[in-house]
Amino acid sequence: MKVICTEKSQVLATQVAKALKTKVVDVKYSRFPDGEHYLLAGEMDDEMVIVGSVVDSDSLVQLMLLVDACDHATNRLVLPYMAYARQDKRFKAGEPISSRVVARALSPGVSDVITVNIHEKEVLKSFSVPAQNLSLAKDIGSYIRSLHLDNPLILAPDEGAMVFAEQVASVGGWEYDHLEKTRLSGVEVRMTPRQLSATSRSVVIVDDIISTGGTIATAAAMLYQQGAKDVFTACVHGVFTGGAYVRLMATGIRDVVCSDTIERSCSRISAADRIAEALRKS
Ligand code: R5P
Repeated sequence: MKVICTEKSQVLATQVAKALKTKVVDVKYSRFPDGEHYLLAGEMDDEMVIVGSVVDSDSLVQLMLLVDACDHATNRLVLPYMAYARQDKRFKAGEPISSRVVARALSPGVSDVITVNIHEKEVLKSFSVPAQNLSLAKDIGSYIRSLHLDNPLILAPDEGAMVFAEQVASVGGWEYDHLEKTRLSGVEVRMTPRQLSATSRSVVIVDDIISTGGTIATAAAMLYQQGAKDVFTACVHGVFTGGAYVRLMATGIRDVVCSDTIERSCSRISAADRIAEALRKS
């Protein structure tokens, strides 16, 4: 077995290969003069683990090309982040079901798929091969433990992320809750923990994705108004679009961290061990 990856997942793929005690294949990525992607893979094996986060259209094309380059092998696809997973239904007539499009595009040529904290598990059914989803909730919990916070409160930004917050909190036996949004006027909203108080406490807001950072920036500002001592945030997928990281830090958040499903300089949690464990098991 060898590991091969797209350009956007080089660090994670190398860590996965290390955890599996195997080699990562050298790939030369370049472009034709007209901008089309080109790649040339080194020596492969009969069993390949293909690691590639889809973070944009280019990484999707590169991943499809890579699967084709491995077409002589048995291929297991690891999709640490899957863009388009949030468009998992037709919210309005005339829209595509984009998650289904991506899943269908990536199914041919692979024997199974592994995702990490996919936004909606129903999307797994759109792959035409077996697909499983892993969670980094416990890994985020371990990261929080390394901060040595005194009795932290783990908060989900909304009710939908409550199970995730509960799993994170279970690592340290910490209290957890979710934020509730109350609309005060057309322009004003208030966000408070549903049951617990943040006053004088260290709070860690956890979520699967930080995209624009809007949700967490608003929450953090309000938690400080409510007397929180410190606010931290940790997520699995650091999309950080449109200056989100800076927006969050500017609200006074002490630290913003994410995992390496999308490789960032604040990727301080790795999905590698979970991925290697899943590959070994099945
Ligand atoms: C939503 O359901 C997700 O779990 C995240 O809460 C959302 O994607 C975050 O978006 P943003 O960072 O743009 O507020």
